[in-house]
This record gives sequence, C-alpha cells and structure tokens, in this order.
Amino acid sequence: GPVVALVPAAGRGVRLGESIPKAFVELAGRSMLCWAVDGLFESGVVDTVVVIVPEELVDRARADLPDSVVIVVGGKERTDSVRAGLAAATDAELVLVHDAARALTPPSLIARVVAELHAGRTAVIPVVPVIDTIKTVDVLGAVTGTPPRSELRAVQTPQGFDANLLRRAYRDIDGDATDDAGLVERLGERVRTIVGEPEAFKITTPWDLALARTLLGQT
Ligand code: CTP
Ligand code: MG
Repeated sequence: GPVVALVPAAGRGVRLGESIPKAFVELAGRSMLCWAVDGLFESGVVDTVVVIVPEELVDRARADLPDSVVIVVGGKERTDSVRAGLAAATDAELVLVHDAARALTPPSLIARVVAELHAGRTAVIPVVPVIDTIKTVDVLGAVTGTPPRSELRAVQTPQGFDANLLRRAYRDIDGDATDDAGLVERLGERVRTIVGEPEAFKITTPWDLALARTLLGQT
C-alpha cells in the first residue's frame, strides 16, 4: 500500500518572529515547505505528500508545490493539523509525519525511516544524543531533577508509522503531544529509534534560520 507523508506546515512561527508563517519563509529562494516536500520526493520512498497549511496560504502552497501534492487546512495545535492531514490520507498503509520546519532533512534519513517500516517496525523515530545536561524545574524555576543524560535523546522527523496504528493513536488518545510518537507511546505500543542526522534540525529561532542559510551558502 501507499506511503503517505504528512507535512505539518500550519504553525505561526512565533519563536522565529518573521512577518509570515514559518513554513513560508525562504531559504535560498525556496520556502521551507518546498524544501521539505522536495526532500520527501527525492528520497524515492514516498508515494503521496499531504501538506497542512494555514487557511490563508492554501493558494500560495498550490502555486509553489508540484500538482500531485494534496493541500489541507491545519488547526490550532500541531496535533489538530496532523489530524487534518491524516483524514486526507485514507488509503495510506504507512505514514510519515515530517515537519516543514526540518527543511534540510537529508533524503537518506527519510529512506532509512521507511526501510525500518518495510522491515516490520510499526513506529520509528530518528533521534540524536542530547548535548546539554537537561534539568526538570518547577514553575518558580527551582530544579526538581536531573535525568541521566545517557538516557535522553532529542527527537527529529520524519516519524514513521503503520497507518492504522497512527489512526488509532489519534482516535483514542486525548490531549496534545509535541510529537506523534508520544501519542503512540500512550497506547502502550513500542516505538523504535534510529540514528538521526544533524541536518534534520528544526528551524525554530532566528539563530536556526541563520544556520540553515549559512549551510546553503546564502549570506
Ligand atoms: N504546526 C502545524 N500546525 C500548528 C502548529 C505547528 O502544522 N497548529 C507545524 C509547524 O508549521 C512546523 C511543525 O508543526 O512545521 C513544528 O512546529 P514548530 O516548530 O513549533 O512551528 P511553529 O508552531 O510554527 O513555531 P512556534 O511554536 O515558534 O510558533
Ligand atoms: Mg509550535
């Protein structure tokens, strides 16, 4: 069955602080959304791409993206946007969820996630070791704990799933998660990790945007 990639791109980009929603900010002449979609097609392992965008940018996305790309309107939270994308992927057997904000993700990483799914894994996420020590804190900022760094990983996208498992997670689990695997975990299902890539970093802040443009040789 088809491999469908959902690309959440309906966020506002508050932390980036540009005048347009983040996914439509340009990197070397192409929007982050175009970079992300191009990477998915370049991987050679994705059959259909569904992008999820803010309502006022549907026409802009239509003009910028290949005709085969399905465009749907997102929602308030990221989970609302992914849910809208999933509803448009009725024939999917395998689903990738890939943030537009990870515009420079290597196609080889996308292919590795799909290879794990074809090998029978039902939930696969790319991760990298955490560099900084991480503390938990209370509302006043007092430290409440220090989880052992060796057990921590920073999570990237694309996250890959058996489509029926992800549909069940979105149907049965209430509330928000900052990633899709978080919902699958709450079903009690096993999530496997694979080694991520530095280029799959999320462009979140002006610093990240400067890094992305530098990597592309754009000054
Ligand atoms: N996203 C989405 N719908 C939302 C919120 C986020 O589709 N309601 C998407 C973003 O467009 C992005 C990805 O989810 O590609 C990861 O979210 P994040 O990096 O937090 O982007 P924004 O929410 O746009 O940024 P910020 O949180 O700084 O406003
Ligand atoms: Mg956000």
